[in-house]
Amino acid sequence: MRLQFLAACAVLAGLAACSPKPADTASAPTRIYSVQEVMKAVVAPSSAAVWKSPEWMNNPDGPQPDAKTKEADWQALRAGGVALAESTNLLVMEGRLTVQPGVKLEGEGQQGNLTAVEMDAKIKANRPQFIKHARALQDAARETVVAIDKRSPDALLEAGGKVDEACEACHKAFWYPGAP
Ligand code: HEC
Repeated sequence: MRLQFLAACAVLAGLAACSPKPADTASAPTRIYSVQEVMKAVVAPSSAAVWKSPEWMNNPDGPQPDAKTKEADWQALRAGGVALAESTNLLVMEGRLTVQPGVKLEGEGQQGNLTAVEMDAKIKANRPQFIKHARALQDAARETVVAIDKRSPDALLEAGGKVDEACEACHKAFWYPGAP
């Protein structure tokens, strides 16, 4: 086997096909921070960016920006949508901590809320469900980008509503399941 592998390598020499292992290791993702930290640093700001609709979009009698300003606004919204869609991939990375040890959840101790330890156990025990919620957010975020590419404020508003629902559904399932 080894000889065959070496022979294949000799044939493929120069194609970098002989060293798949080191290449795989180098490109393997590294989990660094917790779900909670990714939420605060990436998910929430990206969703805020895609929600930040400029005044001209909400109010037809409001400011009438020139085409260049309008285009810059659309591009900024699009960046938010792209970041939000991709942020969901960070959430589902295998083995990411839910919360750093010793850190509490926002609202921990309030009636109906889980503790950090309970939440971590619940996510581990229901991983497919957690991934489904993350996927729902990804789908909604991608829909915002489609709406933005169509330059449609109405479609963006509708997709934004779905983003909101996706955030809420996951939080309700894993963070404050007993909240009124
Ligand atoms: C797949 C599940 C999931 C989805 C989808 C999700 N979250 Fe979270 N979120 C969590 C978990 C788990 C935590 C950790 C709980 C905590 O920090 O209290 C969290 C925490 C947060 C926090 C930090 C709260 C704190 O501790 O200060 C913010 C802010 C937040 N989410 C915003 C959002 C927004 C905005 C969206 C949608 C754009 C969203 N989340 C979608 C699972 C999710």
